[in-house]
Amino acid sequence: MSGMIETDLLVHSAAQLLTLAGGPQRGSALGTLGIIRSGAVAIRNGKVVEVGPSEKLRKRFRAKDEIDARGRIVLPGFVDAHTHLIWAGARVAEFEMRVAGANYMEIMEAGGGILATVRETRVASVDELVAQALPRLRSALAHGTTSMEVKTGYGLETAAELRSLAGILQLDAAQPIDLTPTFLGAHAFPPEYSDDHDGYTELVCAEMLPAVRDWWAANADERRLPFVDVFCETGVFTPAQSRRILERAQALGFPLKIHADEFDGLGGTGIAVELGATSADHLVHTPPEDIAALGRSETVAVALPCSPFGLAEAEYTPARAILEADGILALATDMNPGPAWCESMQFVLALGCRYLRLTPAQAIAAATINAAAAIGRAGQVGSLEAGKQADLVLLGASDYRHLGYRFGGNLVEVVIKAGDVVLRNTALT
Ligand code: NIG
Ligand code: FE
Repeated sequence: MSGMIETDLLVHSAAQLLTLAGGPQRGSALGTLGIIRSGAVAIRNGKVVEVGPSEKLRKRFRAKDEIDARGRIVLPGFVDAHTHLIWAGARVAEFEMRVAGANYMEIMEAGGGILATVRETRVASVDELVAQALPRLRSALAHGTTSMEVKTGYGLETAAELRSLAGILQLDAAQPIDLTPTFLGAHAFPPEYSDDHDGYTELVCAEMLPAVRDWWAANADERRLPFVDVFCETGVFTPAQSRRILERAQALGFPLKIHADEFDGLGGTGIAVELGATSADHLVHTPPEDIAALGRSETVAVALPCSPFGLAEAEYTPARAILEADGILALATDMNPGPAWCESMQFVLALGCRYLRLTPAQAIAAATINAAAAIGRAGQVGSLEAGKQADLVLLGASDYRHLGYRFGGNLVEVVIKAGDVVLRNTALT
């Protein structure tokens, strides 16, 4: 037919195409899916050209390849906005101890927990770290994740932290999921500094942050600087130490994140808002004044329900209070070798619906467009709109509410990353 526009790929006939168009969703706007029934998406050069009704797009575009979504759901790939993906080893014995009643923070104080993973990560080569992380990325991709934030934080000395950053860059190049790096040198106090927490804080500020900035400039081409994150918690970095590290990082040009209020509400979220951090994460015990501050800010609240679930705790992020305060809420796995070895954003949605009392629509928006905002990528990913990266998944379900409703399995049938079909879980044509 004349007048048709040539394109690379047309995905059509989706029962529901969830566009998530219109930018990050705050407060009561969370859950605006932008559903197109019998929807289609035209893709060229890895980007979305147009979304709309199949009938219209099939007349407009002549595609080299077509996928008939045959009554399935099409939505943006999940953005996992908080992971500790890169580590060596496992902590199975610790899990057994926790099941028997041991406490997460007490295990850490006794030299286990994060520090057990630090011992294994410090002696691992970059290649070994990459080899151990790759299967986790493959699993995440198979469950529909197409972008992921990845933290260092199991080196806790300059050279080992830089090896983790090098590993993240290698992993980014080795597989389809786009990785956004974060430097978390302030994840715990290494054994050398167990009696000198201020000394380690000073090491992070005076040695590690400048070293990361210089290493990045020399090794990461033109990529923007990693985020800098701090574990602000009782027994770990105090609010004063956290502030010192984040202010130093900001002065060096790094964008900011924080682990706050996981076990105690110490004011870390307020510091994040004050410094204009991109996100504040965990937020289980966040004081009301910090929830109010979040609602007046652009800082994204990242809830990590796998963490209380993994520790079998009763309390979760007060998502409804954050939304009532007009906050921007996102969801992520917190994938790590301790409480939350989980690669599946679908499982996170299931937890979010039950324990954060989110609707499936709210959970989906929190895991896509708002999660993209939490890693500073809302202009590129997290929704299906003209000009954005063509990262999408096809689900084997005819109603989007199967996400959240069902758990423990995998609804993803096809994953498309930057316009390429990178994974098929069953034979769709
Ligand atoms: O975000 N809370 C601190 N860090 C991780 C856990 C890391 C670990 O136990 O290895 C978290 O939950
Ligand atoms: Fe974390």
